[in-house]
Amino acid sequence: MNWIKKVLVTGANGLLGQSLIYYLTKDAYFKVHGLSQGKSRISYNIENFTYHNIDITDTEKLEKRVLKIHPDIIIHTAAITQADECEQCQQKCYQVNVTATQHLVKIAEQIKAHFIFLSTDFVFDGKNGPYQEKDTLNPISYYGKTKQLAEQIVQSSDTLWTIVRTVLVYGHHPGMRRNNILTWIVRSLKNQQTIQVVQDQYRTPTFVDDLARAIIQLAHQQKTGIYHISGAEMCSIYEFAQIIADVWGLPKFYIQSTTSKKLNQPAQRPPKTGFIILKAQLEINYKPHTLKEGLNILKQRIKEIL
Ligand SMILES: NC(=O)c1ccc[n+]([C@@H]2O[C@H](COP(=O)([O-])OP(=O)(O)OC[C@H]3O[C@@H](n4cnc5c(N)ncnc54)[C@H](OP(=O)(O)O)[C@@H]3O)[C@@H](O)[C@H]2O)c1
Repeated sequence: MNWIKKVLVTGANGLLGQSLIYYLTKDAYFKVHGLSQGKSRISYNIENFTYHNIDITDTEKLEKRVLKIHPDIIIHTAAITQADECEQCQQKCYQVNVTATQHLVKIAEQIKAHFIFLSTDFVFDGKNGPYQEKDTLNPISYYGKTKQLAEQIVQSSDTLWTIVRTVLVYGHHPGMRRNNILTWIVRSLKNQQTIQVVQDQYRTPTFVDDLARAIIQLAHQQKTGIYHISGAEMCSIYEFAQIIADVWGLPKFYIQSTTSKKLNQPAQRPPKTGFIILKAQLEINYKPHTLKEGLNILKQRIKEIL
């Protein structure tokens, strides 16, 4: 018999956090808690869910609350996720991405929770993508370095752990605070704004629903170790913008191709990442949607909003 498991999702207000909450609360196997900064911006009308408003760098408050919840599984998605912000505010980025993760890992050890940590393709230098789980890490941005450090903490922990690395996630929730690649492109093209999109960075973009469902599968099966979860198609970010414009029927005229050098962003980006997802396909029967399928699903879902 399967007992109901208590699961805590950090970063519940975020792009992935909201999808996780949506799918977890539909699964009778889980009793769901979500935690994020500020008030809940979770846009779904859901039952079987408790929200906690906590800054994960507030060590004492975090520990007290998590021990009280006593989750069987912690899915840790909260992070400073903007590479440029991390480059420019390194101390804050370290506190959230490394120190708070270390603290949560200790709590997970104490209560013997399965700790599932979200990491990134930015732990690689982008010289030899697409990457497998066993490939050598060599981050070239501060954001990537903090995620590598957090991965090391997770791997040396004394509890069940899983590291899920992912790539350029796209999706939408009504309560989302910041743009992702999809919402940025659709909003800009709808407003007839010219955008500069890099043609020399290659990724395997990830539909947020595929990612959330894969993580839930890993939790169900108590899979441990490192998993690469992304889409299966490699394209440049410029090509991805063109596909988005095609699906939305928006003019490509406003998409201008540029290079990383010309864009000169504060954080360096790895040129070609993308993942080999064979391990997830074999072990959890992971079958991501194609880019066109994922985008078409989102277009139907969000046509009134964007
Ligand atoms: N999105 C991608 O393309 C991508 C690619 C690779 C890896 N990842 C990884 O996947 C995970 C989820 O990404 P995402 O796109 O869902 O990120 P996101 O939309 O930026 O959400 C991150 C969440 O973390 C919360 N958070 C940040 N600082 C916090 C703090 N001090 N205390 C409590 N909560 C805090 C934010 O809360 P507020 O909204 O309330 O500030 C936000 O809800 C991250 O670990 C990221 O590194 C993402």
